[in-house]
Amino acid sequence: MRKILGMAFPLPLALSLSLGLLAAPAHAAPPKKETAPAPAAAPAPTTPEEKLAAMKINIAAAVAAGKKASFFCANCHGEDGNSKYPEVPNLAGQNPAYLLEQIRKFGSGQRKDEFMQGLIKVLSDDERVQISLFYSESKVVPGNADAALVRRGQDTFGKLCVRCHGEDARGNEKIARLAGQQKEYLIRSITRYRDKTGERIDPLMQIATAPLTNDDIKAVAAYLTTKR
Ligand code: HEC
Ligand code: HEC
Repeated sequence: MRKILGMAFPLPLALSLSLGLLAAPAHAAPPKKETAPAPAAAPAPTTPEEKLAAMKINIAAAVAAGKKASFFCANCHGEDGNSKYPEVPNLAGQNPAYLLEQIRKFGSGQRKDEFMQGLIKVLSDDERVQISLFYSESKVVPGNADAALVRRGQDTFGKLCVRCHGEDARGNEKIARLAGQQKEYLIRSITRYRDKTGERIDPLMQIATAPLTNDDIKAVAAYLTTKR
């Protein structure tokens, strides 16, 4: 329960109240005559500090809704987006816009996975946004790998991948974060781009991965899985 003006409201009601107030037009229609006296309205946030506090409540509520909506995804991707299986990608710490775009692609069939597609189709637009936000706010747990392999992979990454995936391999809105990703998933994914065997045909990724041998792919995956 959250308290507004000393009255306790369940959280969703409290939120819709404050959202409604934020969105109220400047010249609202005059209130209807009521027999009971109208409850005093909570003051809309005016100072930057109050606005920040209100926005934080909205984000926290969306993240909480995302955790709830992702209960089935947790079977494979883990409670907090750190996956339970080597071939299932971590979603924790991934860029939210990238996650949302991949969810859209699974939903439309542009990206295929026998397990994922059916699940994604039943999600509403709001749930997709909330789930993407929830996973992006979660911390990814990096994996372990052989030190010599990691050094070799770092070298390859610096030559062929860094200009798009970034110095820290954290990507951006459009480009996936690779830091802390599951090693096995990285190997499969990079190999599919190189060999053009998946439906994720991306010309940029094909050019970048073309020179890689299988051992280079193992090394770069070893490097990336250990990164925070
Ligand atoms: C049965 C296991 C399973 C379940 C349950 C599952 N996924 Fe997945 N998910 C996978 C696998 C496997 C992949 C990787 C597919 C591939 O190789 O391209 C994946 C990939 C993804 C990706 C792409 C990640 C990336 O780095 O590109 C997103 C986003 C995703 N899943 C979201 C979800 C959401 C949201 C749910 C719940 C509605 C969900 N998944 C449920 C197995 C699962
Ligand atoms: C010219 C830019 C560019 C370069 C260089 C590049 N990438 Fe990518 N990478 C992308 C884009 C764009 C995507 C998303 C493509 C898609 O939606 O299928 C991507 C996706 C990926 C994915 C899939 C991530 C996921 O979560 O499913 C992996 C793995 C990856 N890149 C690894 C690499 C590696 C390793 C290199 C270096 C050998 C590299 N990339 C070089 C642009 C680039």
